[in-house]
Amino acid sequence: MTDLSAFIAGLPKAELHMHIEGSLEPELMFSLAQRNGVEIPFNSVEEVRAAYSFSNLQDFLDIYYKGADVLRTEEDFRDLAAAYFDRAAADSVTHAEIFFDPQTHTDRGIAFDTVMEGLIAGMDTARERHGITSKLILCFLRHLSEEAAFATLRQAEPWLDRIEAVGLDSSEVGHPPSKFARVFAAAAERGLKRVAHAGEEGPPEYVHEALDILHVDRLDHGNRSLEDPALVARLAREQMTLTVCPLSNLKLCVVGAMDDHPIDRMLREGLRATINSDDPAYFGGYINANYRAAAEGRVLSREDLVTLARNSFLGSFLSEEEKAAQIARLDAYAGNSSPRT
Ligand code: ADE
Ligand code: ZN
Repeated sequence: MTDLSAFIAGLPKAELHMHIEGSLEPELMFSLAQRNGVEIPFNSVEEVRAAYSFSNLQDFLDIYYKGADVLRTEEDFRDLAAAYFDRAAADSVTHAEIFFDPQTHTDRGIAFDTVMEGLIAGMDTARERHGITSKLILCFLRHLSEEAAFATLRQAEPWLDRIEAVGLDSSEVGHPPSKFARVFAAAAERGLKRVAHAGEEGPPEYVHEALDILHVDRLDHGNRSLEDPALVARLAREQMTLTVCPLSNLKLCVVGAMDDHPIDRMLREGLRATINSDDPAYFGGYINANYRAAAEGRVLSREDLVTLARNSFLGSFLSEEEKAAQIARLDAYAGNSSPRT
């Protein structure tokens, strides 16, 4: 292990952009398919992995929604979440705010409560096993209607004390944030925070809409903001957190090569960027693999890595007190782990 990899391995960090359905490893997909008697269109784990070659977001989403079909029971959701938290703990994640897509499940006849009970059981197990704290972000699928999002918000009503925020994901182009203006306002009235995927494939205008119409507290991806200098200046001025996902960006062809990834430029422009894994089972790595991929072959110093980890706590939905405690732990690590070179 290089010095930098070892430093990343032990670096305390928060993960703010990870879809729990995207952490379904092929091995677990097979065992759940067997447990539930579900047919999947693959004969082996190798065949599944070989199918994970995407040329854009939609290519990926098509296979991701199919994979989720093996998730049927509360136990399945619990096992899925517990497996993610085991991997996250091994990567020194101390806090995670995870996305889930209820419509992917309720549209298949799985009860909203089954999803919630399973995920919460997994989160509780993670806290007991690893001391990891976590929060849930309910994402609306943007290729569906705002009316369908409202129906999901109604189903979430009894669970609002266990849901921190709403988000917006799935096929971006053609489904601008403004399509969900009213349901995001309703979520805000219920005390929920708001995040949205914007500027992954969609234009900078979608980022403006996420800020001005959805009033997001955090922006997921945001890469294409860089095409609009006034927007970059605003994001920096407002210290808006960007949840950036390097390996996802590479696998979905948002960037042509990791060397072209703009994470270093984002930091230089004063943006509050963070590093996250998005859909780790599909994109070839969990959060530390993303830190390493971003750091390799570019000028990211240890200081930059600490800034990225600090940003992850600052951009989280933890209380100010909890943020301070997490950052104190990070500073202690950074101070004690001086470079050998
Ligand atoms: N759902 C899961 N991963 C996603 C991504 N990167 N963009 C949009 N929707 C998603
Ligand atoms: Zn995402």
